[in-house]
Amino acid sequence: MNNALQNSLVDMIRISRAGLQDVKAILKLENNVWKENVTSIWDEAMAVRYGMVLKATHGKQIVGALIALRTWHGEDYICDLVVNPCFREHGIAHRLKKELERRIGKGRILTAVKPTNLAMLKINHDLGYRKIRTIRNFHRDGKPHILMEKRV
Ligand SMILES: CC(C)(COP(=O)(O)OP(=O)(O)OC[C@H]1O[C@@H](n2cnc3c(N)ncnc32)[C@H](O)[C@@H]1OP(=O)(O)O)[C@@H](O)C(=O)NCCC(=O)NCCS
Repeated sequence: MNNALQNSLVDMIRISRAGLQDVKAILKLENNVWKENVTSIWDEAMAVRYGMVLKATHGKQIVGALIALRTWHGEDYICDLVVNPCFREHGIAHRLKKELERRIGKGRILTAVKPTNLAMLKINHDLGYRKIRTIRNFHRDGKPHILMEKRV
C-alpha cells in the first residue's frame, strides 16, 4: 500500500466511546489479538456499562479498543488495549489513551505492561506514564508486569 493511501486510511479512523452494540466485535478483536479467550461477553458488557471502553473505528470496522475499569479507589485501570495488526503503528493506541485522559479529566490511570512489550512501554513513556513497581507473577502465569501510572 502506498503512503498516501495508508494516510487516507488512517485519517478515516475515529475514536469514540463503545456501546453495548460493540461488545461482540470488541471481544472478537481481543480474542484475535491475544489468540485466546481473554474475557467473556458478560465482562465486556459490564465494562462498557460501568467502566470506560473506547473504540477506534475504520468505517464500520472496530480496529482498536481500550478497556478501562474503575477501581475501589477511584482510579481508572486499563485492563486491555488492542489494535488490529493491519492498523498498527499509525498512532491508534496513542489516540485511544489520550481520549481516555480527555474523558477522565482529572484522576489517576493505572496500567500493567510486560517488560517485553516494547511498543507499549514506548507509548506509555511518550504519554508520561511512570513506573510504580514490578509485580511478579501478575497474571499468575509466572511472568512479571510493570505497574505504571499517570495522573491527569
Ligand atoms: C501495543 C499496541 C496496542 C500498539 O498499538 P499501535 O496502534 O500500533 O500503537 P501506536 O501506533 O500508537 O504506537 C506504537 C509505538 O510503538 C513503537 N514500537 C513498535 N514496536 C516497537 C518495538 N519493538 N520497540 C520499540 N518501539 C516499538 C512504534 O514505533 C510507535 O512509536 P512512534 O509513535 O514513536 O512511532 C498493539 O501493538 C497491540 O495491539 N499489541 C498486542 C496487544 C498488546 O500488547 N496490548 C497492550 C497490553 S498492555
